[in-house]
Amino acid sequence: MKINKKKTMSQLRSLSIKSIALHIFFVMCCTIMLIGCTDKTEDKIKIGLSMDSLRVERWQKDRDIFIAEAEKLGAEVIVQSADEDPVKQNEQAENMITQGVDVLVVIPKDSVASSQIVKSAHAEGIKVIAYDRLIRESEPDLYISFDNEQVGYLQAEYLFRKKPKGNYFLLGGDPGDNNAHLLREGQLRALQPAIDSGDIKLVAEGKHWAVNWDRKNALNSTEQVLTQTNNQIDAVVASNDGTAGGVIKALEGQNLAGSVLVSGQDADIEACQRIVKGTQTMTVYKPIQLIATEAAKAAVALAKGETIEKANQTVNNGKTDVPSIILTPIQVDKDNLDKEIIEGGFHTREKIYQTQ
Ligand code: BGC
Repeated sequence: MKINKKKTMSQLRSLSIKSIALHIFFVMCCTIMLIGCTDKTEDKIKIGLSMDSLRVERWQKDRDIFIAEAEKLGAEVIVQSADEDPVKQNEQAENMITQGVDVLVVIPKDSVASSQIVKSAHAEGIKVIAYDRLIRESEPDLYISFDNEQVGYLQAEYLFRKKPKGNYFLLGGDPGDNNAHLLREGQLRALQPAIDSGDIKLVAEGKHWAVNWDRKNALNSTEQVLTQTNNQIDAVVASNDGTAGGVIKALEGQNLAGSVLVSGQDADIEACQRIVKGTQTMTVYKPIQLIATEAAKAAVALAKGETIEKANQTVNNGKTDVPSIILTPIQVDKDNLDKEIIEGGFHTREKIYQTQ
């Protein structure tokens, strides 16, 4: 018994020495891991995403997909939304520069005011990507967007195929957004021959631009034009789905929804529902997954000082030829809605057809 007890005591002693050693080893491992982690956070690429606004449905998707891809690539993203205020956007960007971002991705509210962001960032050696909308009067390092002139062309071309003669109302987007002007160029490219021949007459020509892409502004403009023309409008080339919503509301007020053609852009859920219902004629779908993932990849690459292989063309912004990635938009109507939007996973069948 005694011998056994002694054995147990010495066993216990050696056990406690072992456990102390293990404990020390464990603490050392944790410390090393912690140091490793801290280093990693410091090494992480920091991307600043400066957004005009989150009001239009698509921008939330842009943000979420961009962040997910950037994080997948090991970067962290700081997001700021300027609520459609160019001064606020510049301040937020300055703030992100101070926070030490490695690269700035900007969706500019105003194509000219945002040039200050590029200048301030460059002064600190930070590269800038103009996302979806071009920044003018400066030298952004990359522009990534869809072919916006082509978006405008697809909008007007579709309506023109349905109605080759008649009164057309062209409702522009926000005048401070470079895209709004590219869209107009494309819309006119589709309609000009018929305007010249007199088959198409533009009503309230060039007078209506929906400030902030606001649907209320679109509604007011459409109401005015309906009154001025005594409801003699055959087609409204609305530049995006949000403003198309305002146009259709005004048309509903005159029992004209469904008989006047209306275009759009973005494949917003409400626009898809209206296409099914027949009050909106078409939309232009721009796969957000594509632009957001490509932009995140480009941001990480620029932060690492790499060149962007995919930027195989340039777009002139009035000051310089900006290296650009230009993606292809897709015309969508009720016939290819299922294929492009549902099968493509942009919206679910349940959501689109729920109003039926
Ligand atoms: C974008 C559109 C969007 C609009 C309003 C444009 O610059 O290209 O997709 O609907 O802004 O946010």
